[in-house]
Amino acid sequence: MIKKSNVEYNGETFKLEGKEIQEKETRAKDLAGYFLDSAAYQQLDPETLMYRVEFQDNGLVEGTPGGLYFGITHLCPGVVGEEYFLTKGHFHAKRDTGEYYFGLQGHGLLMMTENGETQLEAVVPGSIHYIPGNTAHCLINTGTGMLSVSACWQTESGHDYLPSEEMFPQRVLRDTTSVPVIKMNP
Ligand SMILES: [Fe+2]
Repeated sequence: MIKKSNVEYNGETFKLEGKEIQEKETRAKDLAGYFLDSAAYQQLDPETLMYRVEFQDNGLVEGTPGGLYFGITHLCPGVVGEEYFLTKGHFHAKRDTGEYYFGLQGHGLLMMTENGETQLEAVVPGSIHYIPGNTAHCLINTGTGMLSVSACWQTESGHDYLPSEEMFPQRVLRDTTSVPVIKMNP
């Protein structure tokens, strides 16, 4: 007997559908200290939705060796001051574990920092990104629409959310012509 999968990807909405989907929303109030312009951050409605992560709850407990998780991050467009909306970013708690990202919709950047060295990769529909172990990573939405990116990571990876300035020495800001520019932290 051929069985239907429990979860499907909807290519029109860029979302996961099925019975086993878990969702987590991150709002402006959850991102204190993540943006350079603290005055502009204070102006934001604390309930502003910044991003939503959905993933398949495949029953595996985080920390279990050998398994994988699959999810999609939907990062809203916008700026705080002149800094584009971004995800918190993290190291993996098990530092040497890698991860794949796959661009689904929108335009943005994947920022990766290893040993203080930062690399930025353009995220567009169809782009595939390998994030090596020991690398802090976050997404930045430099576009005008939603940035949706799927990810596959190990069940034993876990997440280690260090203060932003400890993970990322650089920031990506919008210049006067709406082009992304890279600035070092002050
Ligand atoms: Fe990760």
